[in-house]
Amino acid sequence: MTKTVLITGGAGYIGSHTAVALLEKNYDVVIADNLANSSPKAIEAIETITSKTVTFCKVDLCEQQAVRELFAQHPIEAVIHFAGLKAVGESVEKPLWYYRNNLVTTMNLLDEMQTHEVYDFVFSSSATVYGDPETVPIVETAKTGPTNPYGHTKHMIEQICQDQAAADDRWRINLLRYFNPVGAHASGKMGEDPNGIPNNLVPYVMQVAVDRLDKLKVFGGDWDTPDGTGVRDYIHVCDLAQGHLAALENIQAGCQAYNLGTGTGASVLEVIAAAEQASGKQIPYTITDRRAGDIATSLADPTKANDDLGWRADRNLATMLTDAWRWQSENPLGYEE
Ligand code: NAD
Ligand code: WQD
Repeated sequence: MTKTVLITGGAGYIGSHTAVALLEKNYDVVIADNLANSSPKAIEAIETITSKTVTFCKVDLCEQQAVRELFAQHPIEAVIHFAGLKAVGESVEKPLWYYRNNLVTTMNLLDEMQTHEVYDFVFSSSATVYGDPETVPIVETAKTGPTNPYGHTKHMIEQICQDQAAADDRWRINLLRYFNPVGAHASGKMGEDPNGIPNNLVPYVMQVAVDRLDKLKVFGGDWDTPDGTGVRDYIHVCDLAQGHLAALENIQAGCQAYNLGTGTGASVLEVIAAAEQASGKQIPYTITDRRAGDIATSLADPTKANDDLGWRADRNLATMLTDAWRWQSENPLGYEE
């Protein structure tokens, strides 16, 4: 029997790739998104890639009545909650907006799930909950301590989920702590399409490669890393999407946190080299001061997800950059014509 899954934020970068993964496994998918940071073209792309239809609802999940209607109108049996604001710098400037959007959407959803006795919840958390880690690779039991309002929202939502699962043992919740999602669908029809100048490394590098931006600033060349530039655990967005499928299909009573990463790090200079290789373009860059709030190294220990969820990320950095470049070069302006 097919299962109906609500994907909030499903028009966004990770949600759209996860919608494809679920449709390919014959789930029925309802997407709720207010398109605050995404395009309706992403919904078209999902349907083109899968030759299936999704139910799309343009909804602001901060509005409780709209969430009620969503659950009244669709036979939702599980929820994957991507919807949220995610820019660290913006969260420092507009904390209230971030707390309201990220917390209120989640509480409206959990309330309505409870009313309709829907207890399976998969949440987009982030490695940002670890703040500046004491040791790497990071295990789920490591100390948490985010360092910006965005990270606090993720940490608070994790706590809400843990408390909710402790209060009622019908809840089955997986908190997925993503490391650095990059890349795009191999079709070239779906990928990351940030508004304005990208904050993140790979979309910035891609826009340099496609001549939308002149030059990359490498934020610091004196980190305590092998080449002096920051090291991150980049994970292909399609591996991440498969991680959501695994989290949904192997969900257990209670509330569990899982690192979704590869366990392998890459420096900024290694990412630049992989992008040059994938695109055949030179990526001009200068090494500048460190960016406020950055850390030297972030690296997942994904053993718990490997063992409990039977999931493993297997696409390497070259594939991540090759797929990112296919999307960027075939759609230089993203979903905009
Ligand atoms: P995204 O911005 O592409 O997708 C988020 C989607 O949520 C967007 O389509 C946006 O329009 C929608 N949305 C925001 N507020 C909403 C609201 N009130 N009602 C309805 N829809 C709303 O971001 P993404 O990269 O796909 O990230 C998805 C989730 O994963 C986010 O929760 C983010 O915090 C988390 N995450 C992302 C990363 C990353 O680097 N991309 C890393 C760790 C965690
Ligand atoms: C990666 C590396 C930078 C841009 C962020 C959030 C985190 C999570 C993922 C949501 C770092 C360097 C970057 C540039 C550069 N998001 N860099 N020049 O900071 O690891 O993580 O996205 O949960 O919460 O903080 O990712 O891609 O911004 O940076 O040199 O123009 O690239 O210093 O070493 P980050 P990033």
